[in-house]
Amino acid sequence: MAAESKLRAGVVGVGNIGQQAHLPAYANLPDTELVAVCDTDEERRNRIADQYDIPKEYRFANHGDMYAKAQLDVVSIGTPTWAHYDQTIQALDAGINVMCEKPIAMNTEETTAMVRKAKEAGLALSIGYNNRFSLEAQTLKSYITQGLLGRLYYAKCGWLRRRGNPHGWFTKQDMSGGGPLIDCGVHALDLGWWLMGSPQPVSVMASTYCEFGNYEVEGIGQYWAMSGNKEGVFDTEDLATALIKFSNGSTIFFDVSWALNAENNFYAEVYGTDAGARWKPLKVWGMMGKNIADIEPVLNKQINAQEAKVANFIDFLLGRGELLCPGEETIAISQIVDAIYESGKTGKAVYIDPIEV
Ligand SMILES: NC(=O)c1ccc[n+]([C@@H]2O[C@H](COP(=O)([O-])OP(=O)(O)OC[C@H]3O[C@@H](n4cnc5c(N)ncnc54)[C@H](O)[C@@H]3O)[C@@H](O)[C@H]2O)c1
Repeated sequence: MAAESKLRAGVVGVGNIGQQAHLPAYANLPDTELVAVCDTDEERRNRIADQYDIPKEYRFANHGDMYAKAQLDVVSIGTPTWAHYDQTIQALDAGINVMCEKPIAMNTEETTAMVRKAKEAGLALSIGYNNRFSLEAQTLKSYITQGLLGRLYYAKCGWLRRRGNPHGWFTKQDMSGGGPLIDCGVHALDLGWWLMGSPQPVSVMASTYCEFGNYEVEGIGQYWAMSGNKEGVFDTEDLATALIKFSNGSTIFFDVSWALNAENNFYAEVYGTDAGARWKPLKVWGMMGKNIADIEPVLNKQINAQEAKVANFIDFLLGRGELLCPGEETIAISQIVDAIYESGKTGKAVYIDPIEV
């Protein structure tokens, strides 16, 4: 696809992530034009459309109507997770390239169907794992790719929040697919797994807990989804922890919480035969001659990873580079998430077979 004219972009779901990432990216990128928005909330839809000068006839309450009428080249999907599958499949059916927010879908079955559909249609499907685009992750990945850490065989990653339940639809299982694991856990898991070279998972042993639910604390800020159950339903886990083994012999130790009596920490550490490294702040545990030595690379360039993920999607469509977060790479993440939930329920190890698409 050549950039002879700007790509026509639409956004479904103009809540938090729509406003933070997709709307400004499409409005600002030189090769895209934000032409349409869709949201079921009329007030928010009109307010955001006014802000971006979207004419009345390109403001939609239904994504199918937008796909039929707006002649889109690309669409971003930033709705609650339960809606991702249908909204993606229908976009691909309409010939539109899709950038879908994480988690890609409610489970592996939906994920696989979405990836297969994109492949059959010959269209791009990218998933919004913005942490891959951070300067720290990109720099560390380049060290790994150059072989500076040797062979990676162990990683630890996770996202622990002491008291950090999101409010709204996130805590309602049938809208979210689960709790912190499928919400913020997938960010940490994706980051650790991608740094490790995206190995094929073979087994998972996990535990899940719900010890806090709708706790009450004062004096801290919390994430409020712009839509969903304000009354405070909570039927998901609040902690998940897992040991994940891969076909190349490597292992990831992982944990994630919305509520845990622990320090807040979003971490990813990889350990190789020549050096280990922490993602952020980037630090390498290596050798200098016969001494063990710590290296802290100086990184002070500002990168907006949320906009960078959309820019990468557009660059790929215009033939200017590789897609950094293609849909097919999220199948293994969905399989691990499903296996953690299953192992958490049964208390037994869960084995994972590769899925061909
Ligand atoms: N990559 C990230 O850093 C990041 C950050 C936050 C959220 N997310 C993901 O983005 C997605 C949305 O999360 P959010 O926090 O923005 O939620 P939100 O509730 O703030 O926004 C969702 C928007 O979708 C609208 N909506 C709901 N159902 C719809 C439907 N059927 N059709 C059209 N619009 C509909 C809502 O009215 C709302 O405006 C989730 O999948 C979440 O996991 C990603």
